[in-house]
Amino acid sequence: MSRLLLVANWKMHKTVEESLAWGRAALRRLEERGPFRRVDLVVCPTLPALWALARLFGPDGPVALGAQNLDPGREGAVTGAVSGYLVAGAGARYVIVGHSERRAGFGETDAVVAAKTRAALEAGLIPIVCVGETAEERAQGATEAVVGRQADAVLAAVPTPPPAFVFAYEPVWAIGSGRVPTVEEADAVAALLVARGRRAWGEGSAPVRVLYGGSVNPGNVAAFAAAPAVDGALVGGASLDVEQFLAMADALDGLQAKGDGDRG
Ligand code: PGA
Repeated sequence: MSRLLLVANWKMHKTVEESLAWGRAALRRLEERGPFRRVDLVVCPTLPALWALARLFGPDGPVALGAQNLDPGREGAVTGAVSGYLVAGAGARYVIVGHSERRAGFGETDAVVAAKTRAALEAGLIPIVCVGETAEERAQGATEAVVGRQADAVLAAVPTPPPAFVFAYEPVWAIGSGRVPTVEEADAVAALLVARGRRAWGEGSAPVRVLYGGSVNPGNVAAFAAAPAVDGALVGGASLDVEQFLAMADALDGLQAKGDGDRG
């Protein structure tokens, strides 16, 4: 059965203690309800909370950990930097790369995002590479051109098919705004990303998984994840509340499995 992925992006929220309180509440609720049949859960907390949550959940626990960013390289004289090697050592299995807040606020170009993606794979992490158009680019009808360019820059930097790879389609105008594209629009972009992955790495490679992100909540998550080319969601604001996060996981777990033939 194809599995779905639900990823929480906490951004710059929650102290270590608040993160642990969320984690303990999640563990209690998961113990009561039993395991999900087909949803994998990932939390991307702040860096100070990563190790504490990794200890709480355990290496094969019900919630995997991710970082929200990484710096390329392994170790060295780079003040303030944290590499994939270091976040992996603190318990991360995933890492978000190229979030639009980093592209816009920290000057992360396609080339930087590509280098970070390569560094993530070298560190044994599963990258969650964010792509998406601004409102202006959407108004110009440039969505597919922008997303295709962002994706190709990353794919070109990874010549060998990776064991696992995730794209998150996050329209910049949908993040934290309460506005979302139609499910059909999100599915069309997700299908484009799957196709680019196949073109780069061949039919036999592990399939690229695509998440939708941007104003996802318990009321809309199932509709997006039910789209043929979409494999789950990347959630900011609504993931901060443990009940809302688990309500989203419940909604995904209740979906019918999709056949591989449905994929675009
Ligand atoms: P949002 O953020 O769910 O608060 O819109 C999503 C994201 O930026 O990853």
